[in-house]
Amino acid sequence: MARIGGMPGPTVSAGKARTLAQVYRRFAEVDAAATSPLYERISAALSESGEALRAIEAAPARKRHPTVILAALHDLALAGRAPALAAAYAAADGDAAAAAAIDTLLRMTDTVVATAVRRPLRTDETGRYAVLYPAIAEAAHRAGANTIGLIDVGCSAGLNLNVDRVGITYSDGQSLGDPSSPVQLTPSVVGDRPIPARAMPEVVARIGVDLDPVDVTDPDEARWLRACRWPDQPERAALLDAELALAASAPPLLLHGDAIELLPGAFARVPADALPVVTTTWALSSFPLESRLRFLQRLDAAATGRAVAWVSVEGVGVAPAIPTFGDRHASGHSIIGLAVFGHSALHAEAIGRCWSRGRMLAWLADS
Ligand SMILES: C[S@@+](CC[C@H](N)C(=O)[O-])C[C@H]1O[C@@H](n2cnc3c(N)ncnc32)[C@H](O)[C@@H]1O
Repeated sequence: MARIGGMPGPTVSAGKARTLAQVYRRFAEVDAAATSPLYERISAALSESGEALRAIEAAPARKRHPTVILAALHDLALAGRAPALAAAYAAADGDAAAAAAIDTLLRMTDTVVATAVRRPLRTDETGRYAVLYPAIAEAAHRAGANTIGLIDVGCSAGLNLNVDRVGITYSDGQSLGDPSSPVQLTPSVVGDRPIPARAMPEVVARIGVDLDPVDVTDPDEARWLRACRWPDQPERAALLDAELALAASAPPLLLHGDAIELLPGAFARVPADALPVVTTTWALSSFPLESRLRFLQRLDAAATGRAVAWVSVEGVGVAPAIPTFGDRHASGHSIIGLAVFGHSALHAEAIGRCWSRGRMLAWLADS
């Protein structure tokens, strides 16, 4: 990942020195241009304001990236502490938002920097269920399980643990889950193979494991998740709100710490007659390679007395033991993997590809 540096001091990005102004200019023109007119306008304005750039430089180098600073400003707007910025966001007024963002940044530099430093950028958002639901149901089917216990590793807010409580209508007409759920997804299916219609068995345990889990019942933490979304994507914000409300209505058990250390205890919390299904979504790239291998060993060790399944949704080549269809690393899509650890054998397979964090998927397994 590019190290983000400040102006006037240069920073190294992909072998090229970039000033902070250039980082913000590029974010406006490349990252935000297609998706967020508000962030495009604000980021361009920040890149042209020496005062604003000097304020951003009060943050440590790794916390100066536009996504982090803009999330910290958004958090102030959502908290009612930057009313002009909130009003500009609500009105989708780019010029007013740019002026209000600079004003807020200059008036509340210490608060913006403190938020950027304290809070890791969160990527939790919708879409994962559309990929996870059929893959978990397939895992249970292959292992012959009637009940399952979910263990989400690198769970962040643990939203994946509600996978059986949402409704999904795929673009090919297939539907899964609960049609009356307040959380409804409409992902796109590519390719000829239909998503299997199998329903998920009863979920009897929901356990999230993370170095730094998010408690969605804490209003500040829930607001930060919203702040990390871009302000001109109201449909996604509404979906996230519905997901947070669903999660808060029955919070999962969150285990705080290193997954390698905590996994044995997590398995012990899944009733003996249920299949433990470990899920990882875009989590393992945060683990050093050695930890990924130890993660695999943990699953294998847990499978001495019973079967264990692992559903992975990770970048190409990130999930150990999961084949890649020969796809190139960093190709922009992810591989849906399914591994079942039996008493004496591991069966690991790539069962699909997905794009846009699961909003589009191709099912490729024989079911
Ligand atoms: C990129 S986020 C993915 C979060 C979520 N699974 C998703 O789909 O958005 C990676 C998560 O893994 C967690 N993480 C990183 N290393 C970990 C470790 N050794 N043990 C447990 N969690 C870890 C981080 O705290 C972070 O919440």
